[in-house]
Amino acid sequence: MKILAIESSCDETAAAVLEGSGVLSVDDENDVRVDFSGSPALKLLSNVVVSQIDIFAEYGGVIPEVAARSHLEVVLPVIDKALQDAGLTKDEIDVIAVTHAPGLLGSLLIGTLTARMLAILWGKPLYAVHHLKSHIYANWLSAENSQYPEFPLLALVVSGGHTQIIYMADHNQFEIIGTTRDDAVGECFDKVAKILGLPYPGGPAIARAAEQGDPKKYSLPHPKVENLDFSFSGLKTAVLRAVQAELNLPITTPSFELADKLSEQQRADFAAAFQETAVEILLEKLENAVRAHPEARSVVIAGGVSANALLRKKAVERLSRASDAKLAAGVESDEAQKSAKWPERGVRVYFPELKFAGDNAAMVGAAAYFEILAGVKPTDSYALDIAPRTPIQ
Ligand code: KG4
Ligand code: ZN
Repeated sequence: MKILAIESSCDETAAAVLEGSGVLSVDDENDVRVDFSGSPALKLLSNVVVSQIDIFAEYGGVIPEVAARSHLEVVLPVIDKALQDAGLTKDEIDVIAVTHAPGLLGSLLIGTLTARMLAILWGKPLYAVHHLKSHIYANWLSAENSQYPEFPLLALVVSGGHTQIIYMADHNQFEIIGTTRDDAVGECFDKVAKILGLPYPGGPAIARAAEQGDPKKYSLPHPKVENLDFSFSGLKTAVLRAVQAELNLPITTPSFELADKLSEQQRADFAAAFQETAVEILLEKLENAVRAHPEARSVVIAGGVSANALLRKKAVERLSRASDAKLAAGVESDEAQKSAKWPERGVRVYFPELKFAGDNAAMVGAAAYFEILAGVKPTDSYALDIAPRTPIQ
């Protein structure tokens, strides 16, 4: 089956074409059926992403109305290019998938209305996909079959709008077991970058600056939050206070007056200290989640912040165990080893390829593919609405 996927939930306009194993047919009721034997397999035929980062770097953040207008300008050419790159015509597409939740209202509307229109005009079934599902399923895009994450799994979803730990007993089953009570971690990276005078988006800028910094130079607090929940607004304020203190300025000094007064070294040290603290906070909770679910076989890290190199390195160090080297090598013959649980067994830690960590449509297609295989019915193309705040279900 060939899937055309569309993504426009924030500031990237994206379209992709994927081919998944299985033959899809649609009956008179617009219900889909999949003839399928063997294991699921996905091939990415094209992947087009137009980013508005250059526009918003000037403003230091996303302006929703500008984002929506920009989506409107490029959405049809982006879809056209995705079909062209895949070497396919619309007639060869079996199904359309689109992000309908969550995200910026105007941004979501452009992708969703475009997908609805195409589904109606071309007579294709339409799948409405949740953005966080897509981020999780970015981990199924590059893997060889044998290396797909195994269930049950724990997903740490870290993006500009979300910070959640999600338990998945199987495909397309999502149980939120931890969530942020205030800011998302990506948002915190962006806000701290602003305080330090680093460009938008803050995540990559902080990671770059941190390379020259000493993470131990400043000590930042870890919030005390019960269960598997997170809180990041205190960390942002802690950085602000530490910068004011370092510059011997009163706490009433507005944050926009600080950046110019920092030396390059101070900026790098603050970036490194913040990055290390944010990563530690994420991994402490993730480790607690794995401890509470020792049956979990995989940990999947997803969303824009999953691009962070320190997070990748430390997640592998903390969550995999020596025995995991065998698993990583694909040697899993020992039955005792197979049934062992964490920490003896370790979990395998997965990250999306860097090009699939941020927003893209390939991941939307991957999520839709596994929804289709799980028997989810298509949505009503005439009625699909956006859901800017709906949690993953
Ligand atoms: O998933 P995403 O592209 O968009 C949303 O769905 O929100 O995530 C964007 C977020 C931004 O906050 C950005 O600063 C952060 O991901 N980000 C990073 C890195 N690359 C992007 N954060 C930390 N380290 C990075 N290397
Ligand atoms: Zn995203």
